[in-house]
Amino acid sequence: MTPVTLRYGNLLEPRLGPGRGVDPGRLEEGGELAQGFAGAMDVLQERRKTGELGFMDLPSDTTLIRQVQEVADSFGQWFETLVVVGIGGSSLGGRAVAEALLDPHWNERTDEERDHFPQLYFLENADPDSTAALLDRVDLRRTLFNVISKSGGTAETMAQYMIIEERLRDELGPDGARGHLLFTTDPDAGALRALARSREIPALPVPANVGGRFSVLSPVGLLPAAVTGVDIEALLAGAAEMQERCLNPELTRNPAGLLAGLLHTADTELGHPVHVFMPYADRLRALSLWFQQLWAESLGKKGQGGDATPESGGVGPTPVAALGAVDQHSLLQLLMEGPRDKVVLFLRVGRRSEPLPIPRTHSEEPALAYLGGHTLEELLDTELRATVEALRRDGRPSLTLEVETLDARALGELFMLFQVATVLAGGWYGVDPLDQPGVELGKRLTSGLLGREGYDRPELDDAEDGNWTV
Ligand code: PA5
Repeated sequence: MTPVTLRYGNLLEPRLGPGRGVDPGRLEEGGELAQGFAGAMDVLQERRKTGELGFMDLPSDTTLIRQVQEVADSFGQWFETLVVVGIGGSSLGGRAVAEALLDPHWNERTDEERDHFPQLYFLENADPDSTAALLDRVDLRRTLFNVISKSGGTAETMAQYMIIEERLRDELGPDGARGHLLFTTDPDAGALRALARSREIPALPVPANVGGRFSVLSPVGLLPAAVTGVDIEALLAGAAEMQERCLNPELTRNPAGLLAGLLHTADTELGHPVHVFMPYADRLRALSLWFQQLWAESLGKKGQGGDATPESGGVGPTPVAALGAVDQHSLLQLLMEGPRDKVVLFLRVGRRSEPLPIPRTHSEEPALAYLGGHTLEELLDTELRATVEALRRDGRPSLTLEVETLDARALGELFMLFQVATVLAGGWYGVDPLDQPGVELGKRLTSGLLGREGYDRPELDDAEDGNWTV
């Protein structure tokens, strides 16, 4: 079993050319990046000591893991369908696990093919089209709704809960409805916790020191995984192993330190603020979205001094969620010839469950013949290697993560790697990666406009829009 590896040569000067990459000497002991890393590590260790980095305790929280497995075992067998209701950090991690590890056509499989594990849907957006369509489709009598909200007050999730709860009550009566609800929320605070207590609805805790986008290895991501038969112990074992590696004080032996330090340097020194995450695996499309949220919401901040002026508006890279090889037919032209403001973080999967041979047919047609005898796995992998090389030849930087086999263990490693890298990058950028003050104003305005008690109704500056609309 090979651990996840990070190839970073294509972000270094020897490969990219003078001024285009990082001088490897800067990574060695005494080098500037190694010193910056030591500072970022100090911040991480300090915050760990004060108990702020709860996500790092999750792989060893045996009580919580047992609780999740017990709840999953007791609920899973009763229901044909699990609907996860949540948004942002309360959804993307669970989606990333499900897409990576369940059969791609999970919900179309028969009960037997799914080994009697339930179908799984995610209700994320407050979009009436998708919400109504899903609620009309599922059999309420055989569906469990896992309502996930750390704060217990997110408008989209609460509104969906209210619609679901009323439908359940109409169909099953108040007592029956209760048996189809499972909350995942803060252990003490928030409206969802209060409802769980007053209505005796079962509820799993999200530890108080685990924030939304760092919650994938808490009951937020683990419950849907366990209910659908994912090996959550392997997921957590992978995370624990990676955590060990990410605490190595030597930068060149620490994958999270290198990921954070090199991407930060690419942004702030080399002029590459756009960080494109491009796994070459359909199963990792949702992981790409999960990374995008983690990187953006954690690092896009006002910052303290430095680059952060009122004019610049703050600091932080712009992550872009992509997918190889599909986006070779969409983004690649821009990546190859557009502004030199991007770094691509590729993700390569070494071995697939089914390489799928391409038959040696059509030997008379050169455009097809050369493909025969290879496999789809080889084709995808070759395209990745060719793209990395094409970028390098033009002095365009990239990093490549390699996963031998895409299983629960490797996925756990990736989750932990990205989360620790995010905290370290926060140290480098001088921002708090755990908060998200920038999303508050929009929430306050929404509450005021919808007449929430304690919120003033705001004036929106859209009175003249009529003059400026075509
Ligand atoms: O990462 C975060 O903190 C956010 O993306 C939240 O997960 C998202 O806003 C949903 O919040 P909550 O879980 O409180 O409903």
